[in-house]
Amino acid sequence: MLLNVVLVLACMEFAKGDVFPSLLKTNATMAVVVDREYLAEFYGNITMEIERYLDYAKREFLRHNGLNTQFFAWPAINLKRDLSILLSITSCLETWKLFAGAETENLLHIAISEQDCARLPPNSAITIPIIERGQETPQLLLDLRTMDIYKWKEIVIMYQDNIPDDLLTRIIKSITRKLAKTTSSGVSLIKLTTKTFEDINYVYSSIRASMLDINPKTIGGNFLVIVNLDLVEKIMEFAKELNLVNTQNQWLYLISNTNNRVFNLKRFKKLLREGDNVSFIYNSTVVNTTCDEGTMVCHIRESLTGVLKALDDAIVEESEMADQVSVEEYEAIRPTKSERKRYLLEKVQKYLTEYGSCNNCTKWKLEAGETWGREYQTPGENSIADIQLVGTWRPSDGPSMTDVLFPHIAHGFRSITLPLVSFHNPPWQILVTNSSGEVIGFQGIVFNIIEELSKNLNFTYSVEVIKNYQAESNNSAFQTYNNESVDFINMAENSYIKTYGVPQIVLDMVHNKSVALGACAFTITEENKRMINFTDPISIQTYTFLSARPRELSRALLFISPFAGDTWFCLATTIISMGPILFYIHKMSPVYEYKGIRVKGGLATIQNCIWYMYGALLQQGGMHLPYADSARIIVGAWWLVVLVIGTTYCGNLVAYLTFPKIEVPITTLQELIDHKDSVSWSYARQSLFEALIKDSTENVYKTIYEKARDISNKRIMIESIKAGKHVYIDWKIKLQYLMKQQFVESDVCNFALGIDEFCEERIGLIVSTDTPYLIKINEEIRKLHQVGLIQKWLEDYLPKRDKCWKKKRSVEVNNHTVNLDDMQGSFFVLLIGFSIAVFVIIVEKMWFKKINKKKNRRVIQPFVT
Ligand SMILES: *[C@@H]1O[C@H](CO)[C@@H](O)[C@H](O)[C@H]1NC(C)=O
Ligand SMILES: *[C@@H]1O[C@H](CO)[C@@H](O)[C@H](O)[C@H]1NC(C)=O
Ligand SMILES: *[C@@H]1O[C@H](CO)[C@@H](O)[C@H](O)[C@H]1NC(C)=O
Ligand SMILES: *[C@@H]1O[C@H](CO)[C@@H](O)[C@H](O)[C@H]1NC(C)=O
Ligand SMILES: *[C@@H]1O[C@H](CO)[C@@H](O)[C@H](O)[C@H]1NC(C)=O
Ligand SMILES: *[C@@H]1O[C@H](CO)[C@@H](O)[C@H](O)[C@H]1NC(C)=O
Ligand SMILES: *[C@@H]1O[C@H](CO)[C@@H](O)[C@H](O)[C@H]1NC(C)=O
Ligand SMILES: *[C@@H]1O[C@H](CO)[C@@H](O)[C@H](O)[C@H]1NC(C)=O
Ligand SMILES: *[C@@H]1O[C@H](CO)[C@@H](O)[C@H](O)[C@H]1NC(C)=O
Ligand SMILES: *[C@@H]1O[C@H](CO)[C@@H](O)[C@H](O)[C@H]1NC(C)=O
Ligand SMILES: *[C@@H]1O[C@H](CO)[C@@H](O)[C@H](O)[C@H]1NC(C)=O
Repeated sequence: MLLNVVLVLACMEFAKGDVFPSLLKTNATMAVVVDREYLAEFYGNITMEIERYLDYAKREFLRHNGLNTQFFAWPAINLKRDLSILLSITSCLETWKLFAGAETENLLHIAISEQDCARLPPNSAITIPIIERGQETPQLLLDLRTMDIYKWKEIVIMYQDNIPDDLLTRIIKSITRKLAKTTSSGVSLIKLTTKTFEDINYVYSSIRASMLDINPKTIGGNFLVIVNLDLVEKIMEFAKELNLVNTQNQWLYLISNTNNRVFNLKRFKKLLREGDNVSFIYNSTVVNTTCDEGTMVCHIRESLTGVLKALDDAIVEESEMADQVSVEEYEAIRPTKSERKRYLLEKVQKYLTEYGSCNNCTKWKLEAGETWGREYQTPGENSIADIQLVGTWRPSDGPSMTDVLFPHIAHGFRSITLPLVSFHNPPWQILVTNSSGEVIGFQGIVFNIIEELSKNLNFTYSVEVIKNYQAESNNSAFQTYNNESVDFINMAENSYIKTYGVPQIVLDMVHNKSVALGACAFTITEENKRMINFTDPISIQTYTFLSARPRELSRALLFISPFAGDTWFCLATTIISMGPILFYIHKMSPVYEYKGIRVKGGLATIQNCIWYMYGALLQQGGMHLPYADSARIIVGAWWLVVLVIGTTYCGNLVAYLTFPKIEVPITTLQELIDHKDSVSWSYARQSLFEALIKDSTENVYKTIYEKARDISNKRIMIESIKAGKHVYIDWKIKLQYLMKQQFVESDVCNFALGIDEFCEERIGLIVSTDTPYLIKINEEIRKLHQVGLIQKWLEDYLPKRDKCWKKKRSVEVNNHTVNLDDMQGSFFVLLIGFSIAVFVIIVEKMWFKKINKKKNRRVIQPFVT
């Protein structure tokens, strides 16, 4: 219980700023600040007027309760809590100071102030600047600026010399003055001389001369043109001629010598081009009826009337509410102070808009050129730019906008439908068709990009499909892909992935502007730039070549691989020469004679010596060893040599056993040419690569071009690549599709891609040459590149990695077991040895037979002694 009371008290304390007695019990209190210093000699009359009018109005409009008023003659007052309305008549500076206090106390603030005063925020106060007739331009520009209707950092003001100097000064001030929220702008001034010339042609040429010097790069591209109506057309023409109305610049024409008999400025629309940023503000002041002057007294009366009527309404509403519920309930639901303030503010604003008559003749209209994408709409009336009313301005309540002043900067293409052209060319453009062949959707990298563009530039699109091109390219892949799994096999088999040969019909359509954008990926080439323009590249494709995967070399001759040929040769020579050397040293040695040892056989023949050396080499030793020291030294040295040779051979052989030798792969174009005797090659026909190498002066490319040999049948070509006899040059991604396809079919990786990547082919979308939107589109593409979306989309459509993608070419062998492949060489040696042995034995046999015959003949002869 106690806690509850404490809570309630705390709540009441908390909401104190909002606690305010009901209007039914107490009179509302209005503070009227009439600044004596600001009004000077008018002070007396104005105060009297207010008092007089209040007496009258209270009687007339405030029938249900009273209103207490407090008068102040100076603005520095303490805004007490029991006030609810503040009427201030003071300078701009003091008005803003008062407003700060009124805002915290939730007062309804009605400020009557001087001209060129930034308005108080329209959702919390009412500002009425007292503007003399014909002096409204500075206030107008200031209002547009404070309401962020144009946001320009730099402004080029072009003005006609009939503007009075003090007005010009005020215009510049209102554009440049530093305000709370908006930053100040830099201003360049260009005076258009018209007064000094009689002849209108001189006037025009002088204007043109002044405009000739303008360089938007240095002074900014935002132009504010303050001229008479009759000059607007000429200036628009000059601006176009001098290329000042390009896509980056914004033009705002302020025309003051018009009146309400000028209904709109649609006559200028023929001067607007696609993509221009041009808007107009013009005087639409009513001239022909009698108008109330916008004097201070008029405004005071009007606003007091509005306030009292609103207050009366509020009282009536509150009493109705109080009648329906009990007193306690009413205390709980009655409006708080800020709610009541909002209610009163809305009522007063509504009253002033509907019934306000002070200065009600002065009115300006704002019109905007609607230019984006108009060219591509259905031809006829619609196809030229339009000029539309986007808002009005009145001195009493400022600008009221129905749309933005520069619609395309805020809203891009404003949801219009742009026609595009496309054809089936996966993975760039994929037309999804249903079973009866109707195109029902669009996919692919290009359409992913288009989708993103349409979101950011605010347009929708309709696609014109070129069907003949599919037939031409023999593309039967015109079939349904479901969203998730794009069929890579079909893509490689059927698709052309062709971007180089632009179909003429697409070029024509883009060139003639019957479509806004070619939604197809094309190779960016100089010769096509004559008819169309390309966007920034969406992708860069490189060429490489497809060759057979390098295989292991045969291991039959593994046992000779540890030594190179010359080593083997030296070794053989050494063995053969060492035999005779040993023989002669052995023979010449006098040791045997001295010791009287004379042995037949052994090292006494040259053959035995060679045989011995050979045996020693294979570490077999020999039966006979020399006895002489000289010969022993030779043999000893030989044993050392044998040790070195043997160890080296064994070690190397193990290494060769462990790491099988791989064929030297072809990795660069130069290597391809070096192998031209064993390998032929071909490249994608009608591609950028062909065009480039045709005119190339580089030897490598020249050779590739001249010596290429096409294999027309694709199957045969693939077989011959697999066999290592052919190499095919094409886009890397196309070759990847091919590899994937072969892998899926055979589950073996038979192909390898070259390491060399050459001939970068840049792929872009196409637009017409003079389109103003290229910069915008490029900007969006750059953004997509930066966040990596395009790369991701491309990867989505590429074949996924598999084991054939391994960059490393050598087969990794971790634990190789020696098998017959490795050992076959030694068996061959054995076989050869055996064959030779058989041959030799036959020869020996025959030799023996022959000798025997001779012997026998000799035996038969009569033995004579
Ligand atoms: C004040 O009002 C009186 C009568 O309404 C008028 O004669 C006088 O000129 C006014 N004074 C000023 C300074 O306007
Ligand atoms: C409220 O105003 C009426 C008429 O103006 C007056 O008669 C009455 O005394 C006022 N009441 C208070 C509490 O000030
Ligand atoms: C606007 O037009 C009215 C009527 O023609 C004219 O009196 C007034 O001076 C014009 N405003 C400006 C700023 O020129
Ligand atoms: C209009 O001006 C803005 C800002 O200066 C610019 O970004 C835009 O591209 C221009 N309009 C067109 C159609 O380019
Ligand atoms: C004045 O306005 C009325 C209608 O508002 C029109 O009929 C009349 O022709 C106008 N007079 C002139 C001189 O424009
Ligand atoms: C201005 O207000 C007066 C008085 O209410 C009215 O007679 C007149 O028609 C209004 N003028 C315009 C242009 O609305
Ligand atoms: C697109 O244009 C429409 C029509 O002007 C507009 O209402 C909408 O706000 C714009 N959308 C965006 C995101 O700018
Ligand atoms: C294919 O789409 C077209 C157009 O949407 C439709 O008329 C046709 O009936 C569809 N065919 C099938 C088999 O769904
Ligand atoms: C399309 O294929 C047919 C037969 O398959 C062939 O005769 C024709 O030359 C091909 N056309 C093109 C443009 O490749
Ligand atoms: C193509 O666009 C570039 C800007 O991206 C422009 O510099 C070039 O002049 C354009 N080419 C033609 C022929 O319009
Ligand atoms: C060694 O070979 C066996 C049988 O081929 C294999 O299972 C094992 O993974 C291999 N070890 C290494 C480290 O490669």
